[in-house]
Amino acid sequence: MEDIIKIPQHVSIIMDGNGRWAQSRGLERLEGHKEGVESVRAALEFAVEMKIKYLSLFAFSTENWGRPTSEVQGLWTLMFKAIEREAKYLIKNRVRVLMLGNLQQIPEDLRMAIQGLMDATADCGGTTLIVMLNYSGKWDLIQAANRFAGENPGKEMTPEDMDRYLVTAGVPDPDLLIRTSGEERISNYMLWQTAYTEFYFTDTLWPDFRKKEFRLALEAYARRDRRYGKV
Ligand code: IPE
Ligand code: IPE
Ligand code: MG
Repeated sequence: MEDIIKIPQHVSIIMDGNGRWAQSRGLERLEGHKEGVESVRAALEFAVEMKIKYLSLFAFSTENWGRPTSEVQGLWTLMFKAIEREAKYLIKNRVRVLMLGNLQQIPEDLRMAIQGLMDATADCGGTTLIVMLNYSGKWDLIQAANRFAGENPGKEMTPEDMDRYLVTAGVPDPDLLIRTSGEERISNYMLWQTAYTEFYFTDTLWPDFRKKEFRLALEAYARRDRRYGKV
């Protein structure tokens, strides 16, 4: 196995393909989401192992509300159960959890469980796991601009101001963005924060994306030459 010499500080993943994974097996879409939770655990374990400082996961987009209510409800239930089940593992492994997005619209019981998990892991100094929930890049930019304008009347916004008002404030921009399932688009994810991110696309569906695939993505990243517009 190739030694990965350049470990990204922040890896972000658009976890896609749960529905197709299930459908190809004649199962309900929700079964794909269930199996996808196992991939989340695997990705987190690998990130901890590799000492990746930030792992962010796109879990629910503001557009995903357009799915059948049963699927949306099913996703909330899955997340609620995952929080209950994983809290111990997270604290033991010093994982700090952040959930970022428009959390006001999340069902109350889940929102409280999320807050509890964020509080319980606030002092953990290992990997930070960021779950992007009810998030979209356009929503983030707009809420940042509006909040900035409200708090700084008459002042012109700078790029540094934008960094400080986005929900990802304090988190370094992703170095590597992985999208599974063969789709090659950003789907309204972190639009500002990915300005110089390296993209990695794989046909592997999210429920099949485990440590071996994650390692391949890191190896590909290590071979990239990031120029930032310079020579
Ligand atoms: C990604 O899998 C998970 C979420 C968006 C919540 P999908 O549910 O989008 O799976 P496909 O793309 O329909 O296969
Ligand atoms: C993006 O996947 C959102 C998440 C992974 C949470 P989608 O499946 O919703 O995106 P599109 O519809 O293929 O662009
Ligand atoms: Mg999808």
